[in-house]
Amino acid sequence: MPSAANPAPVGSSQGADELSVHDLAGVNRRLYHATLLAGRTLAAFAPLLGDVAPRAALVRAVHALIGQSVLLHDRLLEMRIRPDELGTPGPAAVEAADELLAGSGDRALAFAAALLRGLEDTFTELQGGCRAEHAFHDRRLYGACLALVAEGTEPYQPHPEDPEGPGPKVSADAAALRTVADFLAAPCAAGAPTTPTGTPALRVPDCPTRRYPGWASFVNAADVEFQDPGTNDPARTIVLHALRKGIATEFISTDIPLRNIAEFPDLPLRFYRDMARHAHDELRHTHLLLDHLTAMGEDYRRVAFRIPDTYSAMAGQPLDFRLIVLSRTGEDAAIEALADAIPRLRSTGYADVAVMFDHVLADELRHVAYANHWLRHLHGDDLVVEAVTTRALERLNVLVEERGLGDYMRREPDHSARRGRHNPDLELRRLAGFSDHDLARMAAMSTGSAA
Ligand SMILES: [Fe+2]
Ligand SMILES: [Fe+2]
Repeated sequence: MPSAANPAPVGSSQGADELSVHDLAGVNRRLYHATLLAGRTLAAFAPLLGDVAPRAALVRAVHALIGQSVLLHDRLLEMRIRPDELGTPGPAAVEAADELLAGSGDRALAFAAALLRGLEDTFTELQGGCRAEHAFHDRRLYGACLALVAEGTEPYQPHPEDPEGPGPKVSADAAALRTVADFLAAPCAAGAPTTPTGTPALRVPDCPTRRYPGWASFVNAADVEFQDPGTNDPARTIVLHALRKGIATEFISTDIPLRNIAEFPDLPLRFYRDMARHAHDELRHTHLLLDHLTAMGEDYRRVAFRIPDTYSAMAGQPLDFRLIVLSRTGEDAAIEALADAIPRLRSTGYADVAVMFDHVLADELRHVAYANHWLRHLHGDDLVVEAVTTRALERLNVLVEERGLGDYMRREPDHSARRGRHNPDLELRRLAGFSDHDLARMAAMSTGSAA
């Protein structure tokens, strides 16, 4: 018989619709903590997985798990659980998470596969037990969670020449199953959470550099001179270059938001949802770019391209620094480049690539908007965000100098002034979450009348 302290075990044969709201909330609370903790734990591994297929498996698992935690959390609040009653994951689950973090990426992927399978069984049983009309919302909840499990386990369709073959071969070994049991079965600790979501700080090992696939030709920036293709190049060369450059930058743009999920426990749940979505978008972009290169008859590994490692300039830095360098000023540059390229692609016979980049542009606007939103959350005020942006970019330039990352990485510290001088599309910038203050400064700079 379930009790308040130890509600019905997940996978209990008792129908979910026979449980009181309180006891069913206890089950959901355990699953909420399990999915959020597992998603955050797995997110730490992104820079350790070199090639496309294992990254796809990891990103899909993280996106699915964080998505489930958001659904479970929303339902918990509907079930008379107050935010100060969320509790925390049990000590066994936190210990298992720290142990996973000390291990390999392969082990993490095996755990992800086993956990998603365990969750599939759990949600299937819970959904099957919600037969009564009073369990309507619970039946919907578990159905939505099952849809996310299916997304999380969707097999990656590899490029024909993908050196990783048909995706990672993950098997749920005994160790992975034991870890899954620690996540799913350990009771939550009761009481007020110490963070907004109840999720704990994790022992995430530093990861100052990322692992690149052999074909990616990432090199120390000091050794290369970054060059855009000449404007006289044929359209095909420009399109190939844009696709290939995109693949390189999508990798970095996947890793940073995932590391943010793993390393920062003090943010609201929406932050983890945004970062998981951001990483998932970048994975999709990687696949889209690969597909278009393939459709153009090119093997992406043989399209010559070298780009500096911009991951190392952000790894280990504070959250606001990362949001500014990657998104508020970095992906913001991509907005202008894409908006400029899309009509030219259409007019030069690459309508299909133009449509793809149009969708990518919509995603990139959202990524910048996430950064602007969370920077305001961290600093509270547009003027402070602007000052913090300037300081972060000054600090970036010092790092670039110290580490020999090259001119490609250098940024002008006054971001709005720089954007303004390049006649930015202010409507796009508004969609990207820049404030009225930011937009006014950009507009003023573009006419040269700013103080
Ligand atoms: Fe992207
Ligand atoms: Fe992006």
